[in-house]
Amino acid sequence: MGEIEGVPMLQDICKEWDAIHSFQARDGDIVVASYPKSGTTWMQEIMDLILQDGDTEKSLRAPCFVKVPFLEMAKTLFYSALEFANTMPPPRLLKIHLPVHLVPPSFWEKNTKIVYVARNPKDCMVSYYYFHKMDQTMPDPGPWEHFFGLFLSGKVSWGSWFDHVIGWWKAKDRHQILYIFYEDMIEDPQREIRKVMTFLEKNLPDEVLQKIVQRTSFKSMKKNPMVNFTVLPTSVFDQTVSSFMRKGQVSDWKNHFLVSQNILFDEEYKKRMACSGLRFRMDL
Ligand code: A3P
Repeated sequence: MGEIEGVPMLQDICKEWDAIHSFQARDGDIVVASYPKSGTTWMQEIMDLILQDGDTEKSLRAPCFVKVPFLEMAKTLFYSALEFANTMPPPRLLKIHLPVHLVPPSFWEKNTKIVYVARNPKDCMVSYYYFHKMDQTMPDPGPWEHFFGLFLSGKVSWGSWFDHVIGWWKAKDRHQILYIFYEDMIEDPQREIRKVMTFLEKNLPDEVLQKIVQRTSFKSMKKNPMVNFTVLPTSVFDQTVSSFMRKGQVSDWKNHFLVSQNILFDEEYKKRMACSGLRFRMDL
């Protein structure tokens, strides 16, 4: 890994940073932003379906990483998001995991609409741990207790979870940002999808909304090859190690955190989140 302005980032991203940072937003672009493993793919599919007026056939037109280019993956062996993005007709739906201070400035200049998805850090950490194990382009996470320390100290790709969620939370009052919580989506997907629809100024009938809820349920997405990443070879995502659509639950962290780790985590959480005005639900 390398670093960009003190934020740990994969070497492939560091190498292409100038091209990524100078990416030119266009009128009508829409962005989904998140810290990794927060439900980004879920939100991408929801937003794509909303933009396609709930047309499920159209939503199957290409894998999610083609429909919604992941900008930081500017140039990798198998994929160039910047190239995809530059050939897309409007409205372009784009994905980023960048902390708010590293967002390409042209998004702010164009007043781009951004949906930010945030997930409680304990589940995020567990999901990220399994993701490091299966994504062959990520560094080896080592044993769980080692990864726990890395995550807590922000020494993982895209940096500190705390800085990320707080940075975006503060930015939402200055820009067109809709801040959505993964736990709220699990609790009441219909309510949260309606918020996204309103934000995107789409007024779809209730039966279409229902269809989007069903189509983006964990069960449905897990068996959809266009979103479950099974189209990627095992040399990229080795899903024999762990599925991309792994559990899709709130509070799986309870199956992984030792009591001592939980105490340590809660202390750090309290310190870091105290003045943020931001609260996460660790279970429902
Ligand atoms: P788990 O590893 O906890 O199962 P991202 O897309 O940001 O990488 O996030 C991946 C996480 O979101 C994974 O979490 C994945 O299972 C979960 N996820 C994906 N689609 C989902 C859905 N439709 N409902 C609930 N969780 C979903």
